[in-house]
Amino acid sequence: MINETYKEMLKKKSVIRELSEFATARGKEIGYENVFDYSLGNPSVPVPQDFNNELIDMLGSMGSMELHGYSPSVGIASVKDAIAKELNDRFGMNYTGNHIFPTSGAAGAVAHAVRCVTKPGDEVLTFAPFFPEYNPYINTSGAVLKVVKANVKDFQINFDELDAMMNANVAALLINTPNNPSGVVYSSETLSKLSSYLYKKQEEYGHDIFIISDEPYREIVFNGVDAPYVSKFYDNTLSCYSYSKSLSIPGERIGYVAANPRCTDAELISVICSQISRGIGHNCPSSLMQYGVARVPGKTADMSVYETNMNILYDELTNLGFEVVKPGGTFYIFPKALEDDAVAFCNKAKDYDLILVPSDSFGVQGYFRMAYCIDTEKVKRSLPALRKFVKECYGR
Ligand SMILES: Cc1ncc(COP(=O)(O)O)c(C=O)c1O
Repeated sequence: MINETYKEMLKKKSVIRELSEFATARGKEIGYENVFDYSLGNPSVPVPQDFNNELIDMLGSMGSMELHGYSPSVGIASVKDAIAKELNDRFGMNYTGNHIFPTSGAAGAVAHAVRCVTKPGDEVLTFAPFFPEYNPYINTSGAVLKVVKANVKDFQINFDELDAMMNANVAALLINTPNNPSGVVYSSETLSKLSSYLYKKQEEYGHDIFIISDEPYREIVFNGVDAPYVSKFYDNTLSCYSYSKSLSIPGERIGYVAANPRCTDAELISVICSQISRGIGHNCPSSLMQYGVARVPGKTADMSVYETNMNILYDELTNLGFEVVKPGGTFYIFPKALEDDAVAFCNKAKDYDLILVPSDSFGVQGYFRMAYCIDTEKVKRSLPALRKFVKECYGR
């Protein structure tokens, strides 16, 4: 018999994917260049040439088995060492390779991290607005995802709501900064407050509460914005990183979990992850990709276009009277819709070939997300459509 849980999931298809499919279909009718598709967070800039050069060099100089064989179940030692060194140099940490576990992207990293620090029935708290894939990431592990209400003033953490939801069954908090969908970066003040709060709660409940810090946008931070490293603030932190956005290689599925060397059982996290892999089949990420990312520490694609696009959209949206918190990073912006029903708002926008994602699946009502990882030329061409939509539908 087919598993009913997954059958049920088929009924709740991703709104983002559905909108992206709609945009593709509309593109077949009118030309995709005429569809202002702000649905999908797919990087739009090329892979850095240095990374390609390293891959070419490796293909020419390294053995076939080394590059294409199974990687060790805990990851390739030299790669883990290189990642630890990069994090230590950048953030003043003291990781060793033993604290690093290579994974298939951030999705794989979170899947391992949650299984590492929760048991079925435990609660994991996340903060709205949140990446909707957290539902399957967490709930298929047996832990239960609970969502703390948003602080819509600035999308930092809503501590009153956190306190209202905190209880002894909470084993972990899943946070995401810079944030998809708000684009907001958690400040040092927010992270310090969170850390003090969690230290107190650990003492009160007599057990660990981990932070699972999902950081695929760590490198996409705009001019003048301070993006503190979460693990600096709290010992029981598992950092989940991905090269999908920073190197523009989401299809290659490569990232890692980095266990803070001061967390409980720090030396065991990576080996426990290798056991989790045996169960979930997310094991032994590509050797070629592990070696590849280790050869370009700190390197990123040229992502300046994201900031250019953000500024254009932020200015236009505020001129049109939208309430919007200025993003500090990512390639998303999250304005308040011009009516309470964000789904209705986004449906109306479709008539202007503007593909916007309603906020409901991000755990907030009445907002919408624009993923501006598209060409600047297209962003500019979308502005008249945006103005027309706002004028004709909302008289502004
Ligand atoms: C917040 C967040 N977490 C995790 C992921 C998954 O990243 P990856 O493709 O590296 O698995 C994404 C992808 O868009 C994301 O936005």
